[in-house]
Amino acid sequence: MSAAETLDRIAREASICVKCALHESRRKAVTGEGPADAEIMFIGEGPGFHENEQGRPFVGASGKFLEQLLAQAGLERSDVFIANVVKCRPPGNRDPEPGELAACSGYLNAQIEAINPSIIVTLGRISMSAYFPGVKITSVHGQMQKVGERFIIPMYHPAAALHQPALRPAMLTDFARLPDQLNEARAALGRRVIERKTIAARQKPETPRQLSLF
Ligand code: URA
Ligand code: SF4
Repeated sequence: MSAAETLDRIAREASICVKCALHESRRKAVTGEGPADAEIMFIGEGPGFHENEQGRPFVGASGKFLEQLLAQAGLERSDVFIANVVKCRPPGNRDPEPGELAACSGYLNAQIEAINPSIIVTLGRISMSAYFPGVKITSVHGQMQKVGERFIIPMYHPAAALHQPALRPAMLTDFARLPDQLNEARAALGRRVIERKTIAARQKPETPRQLSLF
């Protein structure tokens, strides 16, 4: 089965999944979207109101900011795969519970295996905790670490900037480092560059916006 076929199968299964109570608040499952051969995969927390309506990840306010952050790295949404740790909306946007994370983890793990990204960027504490349990995001955000066969970069969740504007400069700076980190990861993993016209041809911004705030 090709990676794209595997991703389709996961999306179909999750759309009718009843493995945890979150299916009760689901209108549309949000399995994720992006190229099946994406070099970078972003993992958020779970669908919010708009994502649940549309069945697509990060389409609300935090999605708008995520797009600005991606632009700091010279990236567009279509260059990367964007997923969540839980595929159905937690009621009232509460944090997913441990049992729900465990119930849903098989889908995400199968997605990661199929896509085989060089870099996983975790967005927020809950997504990070699968790789770095008990670690404080304030002390490790933006730092790339090898975990098994790939590299993990924990980053703040885009929604954090909406509640705490003081985090914005750090988030923009973290994203501006991504192109260099990707080159580092490619070299370390011995991976050839995937010629996606966007990643290869686009220049990263000369100076990240808002750096003047420092
Ligand atoms: N927040 C998330 O973590 N994921 C989404 O898809 C949208 C908002
Ligand atoms: Fe199934 Fe995951 Fe949805 Fe729970 S959140 S019902 S495990 S797809």
